[in-house]
Amino acid sequence: MSKSESLLARFDAAKESVRSEIREFLFNSDGSLKISDDELWSWIAARAVDEMKLVAQLSQLIGLGAHLMPPRLIAELLEQVGDETRHYEQLRQIIPLAHVPELDEAVMRIPRDLAADKHWQLMVGSARKGDPFTALIDINIVHEGFSAAAIEELQSIPNPTISAVYVQIGADEDRHHQAGRRMLEELLRLSGSVVGSPDASGTQDVPHVRWSQLQGESILSVTEGAHKRQRGRSTSQWSWPP
Ligand SMILES: [Fe+2]
Ligand SMILES: [Fe+2]
Repeated sequence: MSKSESLLARFDAAKESVRSEIREFLFNSDGSLKISDDELWSWIAARAVDEMKLVAQLSQLIGLGAHLMPPRLIAELLEQVGDETRHYEQLRQIIPLAHVPELDEAVMRIPRDLAADKHWQLMVGSARKGDPFTALIDINIVHEGFSAAAIEELQSIPNPTISAVYVQIGADEDRHHQAGRRMLEELLRLSGSVVGSPDASGTQDVPHVRWSQLQGESILSVTEGAHKRQRGRSTSQWSWPP
């Protein structure tokens, strides 16, 4: 098994812990909700904010790195931005009016939050130096992979409106995650990398890389680092590693 295969296998195994965290957070053993309706809607409002945050992040990466990307990847990413925008809108539409102001305020804080997010700024720094791919892998494998796993559990929420929305969103997140895995495999194939020991700081010092010149090693190490960061996070914040 190659290093990328074993990394992805470990990532897949970690999805079960995300699923069980969600179950533990939301459900009693009889399937009823463990938290109040008010807490549930607040939590879902925060998940809607995550969707809009993803729109901002993907758009920033396209802005910084479209000139380095194969055209079909740009097309895929633009489609993904459309999907995440739709997810935001779908969630916002089902949220009771009492929770809309907290959602809108959090959306307005997204630029500030992203500017203060050290991990995201590291990713942006790499993109500015010519490597937008590491951030894309980080988003589409780690974020989307854990999101897809968590959303499988959210479909059991005993509220048909919420459950129906998450059935639709879940199918998209899984597609985004599969696209991330294909991107990783393609990057590794093109870079012809022989993978060594992880060093998450490596991406900061790779200037002007191109699709065909990427170091698969640095991509794998960031993916692995993101995976480690995800462990032990509180259930309500599963969607993005710190
Ligand atoms: Fe989404
Ligand atoms: Fe997604």
